[in-house]
Amino acid sequence: MNHIVWHNHQITKAARAEQKQQKPCLIWFTGLSGSGKSTLAGALEQELFNRGHHSYLLDGDNVRHGLNKDLGFTDADRVENIRRIGEMAKLFVDAGMIVLSAFISPFKAERRMVRELVEAGEFIEVHLDTPLSACEERDPKGLYKKARAGEIRNFTGIDSEYERPENPELRVDTSVLSVEDSAKKLVDYLVANKIIRAK
Ligand code: ADX
Repeated sequence: MNHIVWHNHQITKAARAEQKQQKPCLIWFTGLSGSGKSTLAGALEQELFNRGHHSYLLDGDNVRHGLNKDLGFTDADRVENIRRIGEMAKLFVDAGMIVLSAFISPFKAERRMVRELVEAGEFIEVHLDTPLSACEERDPKGLYKKARAGEIRNFTGIDSEYERPENPELRVDTSVLSVEDSAKKLVDYLVANKIIRAK
């Protein structure tokens, strides 16, 4: 690091935000596997796209196929997973985009670390507060079944901890609220906080 100097480039985040007519931010979905993170993030992104916004969705299962394919699910690997994603998301925010991320991100400390990587007001934590019983009932990938049978170790909610966010900007329980209503709740929040314009 000693001989590496930060270069300030000419086109600023503010200029990119102005060009895109939006306030760049990082919408951080956190919650158990099967809680609805990817589904809700996808629905919100579709709505943002329809309104002409420029966004990008970073998704746990996809990022683990590429950038983070060397990482598993030990506590240390999850911490590194979130650290890399945080740094990547920060670059996307700097590029002027509305970034959506869908990772279990089970630990408070790493979520706080990412919050602190971006500017105040840019980190919007959305807790998918769907109860474990509902996630397990859905079990879209059949992973809970395998975890209960001891075929998968360190599975979040079973034999690996999920630390609930204390003060998320938003909380959504997809076992009681539909995807459509949940997405609307998020859009309302973004409009109220001047991230996007009202339609
Ligand atoms: S995180 O904890 O490091 O944030 P991430 O969101 O990237 O997790 O990946 C979670 C996805 O990996 C789950 O949706 C599930 O499909 C899969 N997975 C495989 N093994 C595990 C495990 N032991 N615990 C949780 N998810 C797992």
